[in-house]
Amino acid sequence: SFAKTKRFRASILHFVNDPAKVEKVESSYEYFEDGLLTVRNGKVVSVEPYSRKVHGRRGVKDYRGKLIVPGFVDTHIHFPQTEMIAAYGEQLLEWLETYTFPTEKQFEDKAYADKIAKFFLEQLVSNGTTTALVFGTVHPQSVDALFEAAETINMRLVAGKVMMNRNAPNYLLDTAKSSYDDSKALIQKWHGKGRNLYAITPRFAPTSTPEQLTLAGKLKAEFPDVYVHTHLSENLNEIEWVKSLFPERAGYLDVYDHYGLTGDKSVFAHSIHLTDDEWATFAETDSVISFCPTSNLFLGSGLFKLHVAEKNGVRVGLGTDVGAGTSFNQLQTLNEAYKIMQLQGKKLSAFKGLYLATLGGAESLSIDHLIGNFKEDKEADFVVLNWDATKLQKLRMSRSTTLEDRLFALMMLGDDRNIEATYVDGRKVFQK
Ligand code: GUN
Ligand code: ZN
Repeated sequence: SFAKTKRFRASILHFVNDPAKVEKVESSYEYFEDGLLTVRNGKVVSVEPYSRKVHGRRGVKDYRGKLIVPGFVDTHIHFPQTEMIAAYGEQLLEWLETYTFPTEKQFEDKAYADKIAKFFLEQLVSNGTTTALVFGTVHPQSVDALFEAAETINMRLVAGKVMMNRNAPNYLLDTAKSSYDDSKALIQKWHGKGRNLYAITPRFAPTSTPEQLTLAGKLKAEFPDVYVHTHLSENLNEIEWVKSLFPERAGYLDVYDHYGLTGDKSVFAHSIHLTDDEWATFAETDSVISFCPTSNLFLGSGLFKLHVAEKNGVRVGLGTDVGAGTSFNQLQTLNEAYKIMQLQGKKLSAFKGLYLATLGGAESLSIDHLIGNFKEDKEADFVVLNWDATKLQKLRMSRSTTLEDRLFALMMLGDDRNIEATYVDGRKVFQK
């Protein structure tokens, strides 16, 4: 056989279950202090303790002293907003009007979209993120640009064209019919092509007419396998606005539910201010939440109730939500997530955090049979982390005696400086 086997020696950590769902946290993960990850044809062959007798030294990439984990999964991000990260002073609705819509206008130009798509993917992989659920703009060519760029490194991405036909500047509006036709054409072109997957992407209820939401639901019924990706209950003014636009509905989530847009492949970014009925709808429909800590703090949106999601058995993934989010980095995202839980008198352990960033993200996107940990035959997407990229981290780590404490310090202090290398489909796509 000409298949090339690659072997990586490092400390290796991956999750096999949600730490919240097991009696003892130790049964949620596997950790190999001196481990060996074997990869062949872009798939995981095995993860096991390294043995000099069995594995020798030849042909083994030596990452001793580093930590290998599965590639991070970002369950909510806007690639066209990359350049408007850190826009001052506004909460959601004013932020959209002032900064977001003018920025997104530029993506009618395919060449411009190509340029930003490439930059965006470089940001993802240099932060250890190997899969993301991504918003494009209203322009179908923005999604072509992103999938074309992803194909060049064979990265697993889920993305979609924004559907929006009211309550935004004319230059960003489609129509109910054109959004249906364009989304359908993109599904037929991209969904399941290589590692690309498609998400039907109504921006949020206020920017779609009932007619557009009806057609989004029709599309979902015609292609039940594709995702639905939108925003929900992020900001209190937004929620009041939805109530005034859809007075006939019981609430914000009921708008999406009514049009057939809830379900096990529907991902709702934010979902901060949910009623008991809405939590029940999440549980009943097996819909998913993307928790976006840096964005929720940056826009002053509120504190997501991760503990309530756990209690209701609702799947949650982590999202950066760049450009409202302030970092592409999942360690930084977990740092802020921890503080959001602290403000509610709750804890977020390092194990739960790293689970969310890896296997939890994969489960949120219903692709945990493909990615998320190092079980045999999964796709070989992984990150090599440096424990001590700064002098402060080095000092802190030297005082640490347990794995959990070291992981927690990494989660609080770590960022892109800690990403040593990133592998997608078994191939190195980033090296510090
Ligand atoms: N709600 C509707 N559009 C957006 C967006 O672009 N970003 C965020 N954070 N929320 C939204
Ligand atoms: Zn968003």
